[in-house]
Amino acid sequence: MNEYDSARIADILHHSHGLELTNTPENADILLLNTCSIREKAQEKVFSQLGRWRVLKQNNPHVLIGVGGCVASQEGAAILRRAPFVDLVFGPQTIHRLPQLLNNAKTNLYTKTRRNSEIVDTAFTQIEKFDCLPNPTANGVTAFVTIMEGCSHFCTYCVVPYTRGPEVSRPVDDIIAESVELAQQGVKEITLLGQNVNAYQGLLHDGDSADLAFLIHYLAAIDGIERIRFTSSHPVAMSDSLIAAFANEPKLAPQLHLPVQSGSDRILALMQRGHTTATYLNIIERLRQACPHISLSSDFIVGFPGETDADFQATLDLVAKANFERAFSFIYSPRPGTKASEYLDTVPMSVKQQRLLQLQELLDTNAKTANTKLIGSIQTVLVENVSKNDPTQLIGRAANGLMVHFVGPRHSIGQSVEIRITEAFTKSLRGILL
Ligand code: 5AD
Ligand code: SF4
Repeated sequence: MNEYDSARIADILHHSHGLELTNTPENADILLLNTCSIREKAQEKVFSQLGRWRVLKQNNPHVLIGVGGCVASQEGAAILRRAPFVDLVFGPQTIHRLPQLLNNAKTNLYTKTRRNSEIVDTAFTQIEKFDCLPNPTANGVTAFVTIMEGCSHFCTYCVVPYTRGPEVSRPVDDIIAESVELAQQGVKEITLLGQNVNAYQGLLHDGDSADLAFLIHYLAAIDGIERIRFTSSHPVAMSDSLIAAFANEPKLAPQLHLPVQSGSDRILALMQRGHTTATYLNIIERLRQACPHISLSSDFIVGFPGETDADFQATLDLVAKANFERAFSFIYSPRPGTKASEYLDTVPMSVKQQRLLQLQELLDTNAKTANTKLIGSIQTVLVENVSKNDPTQLIGRAANGLMVHFVGPRHSIGQSVEIRITEAFTKSLRGILL
């Protein structure tokens, strides 16, 4: 989602001010930091990065520094108190107002004035953002399309409902128009984005509303679109029609990220997830029945306040039953303003770290086992680029979402090719072009 917002920020400022992206901060006239506040570590990085940029501004006082994203949304003008050299602050929902904020910040700079109300904008304007953004510019054969914003779940550990606001879905026609535009620019694979993407309920022009399964079928009819993915989903909104789409929509990629967070029903209740491990496992079973080759991934939080050895064992048990192809795991990080940040946290950090290691080891072993089963298989890979680490190799994604490395001609970038898998790793595959 942040990657998508960053791309839109670049688009809008190119459109309004003719700005170009640079990879060299020393050359930049404007330095914008798009921030994440999901865990404390991400938030801490913001101020150390700003410290580095401060030096650039000391060398060139005409440089403008802006902070956007969820940290900006949460801290607002407080950022200016901690880092007074920052010139503008914008939230995830106000990136379309950046041109005006930038003009205000420039005026402030030249008139040596500072009116916070003109350079801080972190309102929840929701869908207005999409109406005001220029048409997307494709960058390669894959693209993200945001279909809904915000989250109304209020899991007790999570800051997202506070930083991105309540769930709002974009109308179906707008998403179709954006996807057609991308397809015309050569995009073949789109990933539909939303904090709680499968809760999507978008308006149709006749006033009815459409769910995610309906939207996927519509988008699949667009000429040029070969593959559709969506992320990130919540188990509670995993409807029958969406599960069925994995069986009856050939363009829907056989891949699903469905975070479960914990295998303990007691912890799931404390997290206010709204489901049990049994309901989760039942969804997974139905998904694997609908689409036997589906690749499933999940997120886990270890060391939630009060997590006992038995709770953690229940998580390990769930992992053994669910057999995820991939997973991400994190140590619980208390976030300001959330309900769980008020819970008594009695789990020592050393125990949390040990649990994380143990869980990651199990998840990595499962991933490697699942990927090893693909050796010898032929995968259709949409070639995205030259490998950054090895320019003799090309990279692309298989339908199951795994990155595949192989040697091939550069003109196959942007094409779908058939690759025989020869080697499997924890997070990627290697193969031979057929
Ligand atoms: N602490 C640790 N991990 C968190 N996540 C969300 N909030 C927190 C938190 N406070 C994780 C969840 C979520 C993923 C995007 O980040 O696992 O699915
Ligand atoms: Fe956060 Fe996801 Fe829960 Fe929403 S559903 S509150 S984004 S963890």
